[in-house]
Amino acid sequence: MEIIHISAECYPVAKVGGLADVVGALPKYLNQLGHHAKVVVPGYDNKFSKENEFETIHQGQLRLGWFTFSYTILKEKTNKLGFELYLIAIPELFDRPNVYSYEDDTERFTAFQVAFLNWLTETNQTPDIIHCHDHHTGLISFMMSHAPIYQHLNHVPTILTIHNGQYQGWFGFDKLHYLPQVSSSRLGFLEWNGIINPLASAIKCAWKVTTVSPSYLDELSEKANGLENLLRFERPKCLGILNGIDNEVWNPKTDDMLEFNYDVKTLSTGKSKNKKYLCEQFNLDPTKPLFTFIGRLVGEKGADLLPEICSIALSRNPNEINILILGSGDSNVEHGLTQLTHFYKGNYNAYIGYNEKLAHIIYAGADYLLMPSRVEPCGLNQLYALRYGTIPIVRRTGGLKDTVIDIGDGGFGICHDQTSVYDVNYSITRAIDLYNDVKNFDKTRKTIMQIDHSWEKVAQEYIEVYQSLKK
Ligand code: GLC
Repeated sequence: MEIIHISAECYPVAKVGGLADVVGALPKYLNQLGHHAKVVVPGYDNKFSKENEFETIHQGQLRLGWFTFSYTILKEKTNKLGFELYLIAIPELFDRPNVYSYEDDTERFTAFQVAFLNWLTETNQTPDIIHCHDHHTGLISFMMSHAPIYQHLNHVPTILTIHNGQYQGWFGFDKLHYLPQVSSSRLGFLEWNGIINPLASAIKCAWKVTTVSPSYLDELSEKANGLENLLRFERPKCLGILNGIDNEVWNPKTDDMLEFNYDVKTLSTGKSKNKKYLCEQFNLDPTKPLFTFIGRLVGEKGADLLPEICSIALSRNPNEINILILGSGDSNVEHGLTQLTHFYKGNYNAYIGYNEKLAHIIYAGADYLLMPSRVEPCGLNQLYALRYGTIPIVRRTGGLKDTVIDIGDGGFGICHDQTSVYDVNYSITRAIDLYNDVKNFDKTRKTIMQIDHSWEKVAQEYIEVYQSLKK
């Protein structure tokens, strides 16, 4: 089957969050199973586009209201990512370093989607499946089903995967003229609560909707930033599929970002060496349990509570624990976390920023990963932690609930019910006890390293979905 994935992010081309990791891995594993999966993303002005070679395979134009833009389709020459990668370059809109957060994001991502459909049309491509990810590609299903100029594509099945339902890409009907002409009887497929809502539109128009974990799908019926009723109504065509991880990238035995490689047999010494190395870099004490948080410093991830969680944990357990934070986001949180470095020297440190290599080193060197998320559609960090023998401490929500079982229930992690300073600190206390119970601690680390969350297994589930649509 020929499957086109279209997304705003794809690792290592452009990454803001976990969406990139999924789009950068699933297609590779679909190809390994004998399919033909491609990825289409915007052509940003970033490191990847500068350092790799591309060939121009198509040029065309698109209309966005009164404006006309030229677009170019660039194909990465070597297929080194394990799939064909296509960039849609629209210089006026995407020739910038970042993925999101520009004032004209509506214009940028609408133009991206129109260019994609124009390209398919002008080159007579009819793939077997078009797989859209999140709201940035949410208008594609609508345009394919309802715009007469793309009528020839309306038999091609589309799938929407919701990685994060909080963001929906809303814009007003004053920008309706950005879209190709449709009959006014079809406008209901664009609208939710009186405005154009690309995520809602994709939930209505895609042939199938998947979420990145089964529990997240259940939760969306109760809490979906205004889309609860729509998701309840469309439930029959929705399915939760837990994300996988790329075991080739995330493998402590071969990971070339690590100073010391290890596997389940050499876990204890391997992790100790990595911990020692990490603690030296950040002035921490390798004899104490090392807790970490890695990720975006935003409310959704519970990061606003981190300064208080850390200061209470460090004051209550003086000289008993280390904490190391890696992330960026909300400036108040960044500030709070930086401040703490002055008070808890030797036991606490923070790296404010995004650093993929350091993340790998931390997974290898830390003992525990904190994930107090308020919302977590799947969460990949706990899966990386498991693979590197780092025990996750998670709030029971979304994909965290589906992938981490509390040690008290015969599992291997530490779980709490609320995103609260109290709950997380209680979990930290439990984690210190486990750390001191050396036999149990080691047994748990061995168990988690062997849990299989590979894409090999999960890609098959997507293939079944594709096949069910391709009768
Ligand atoms: C988003 C979600 C995260 C999920 C990722 C990949 O970033 O917040 O929970 O793991 O997408 O699907």
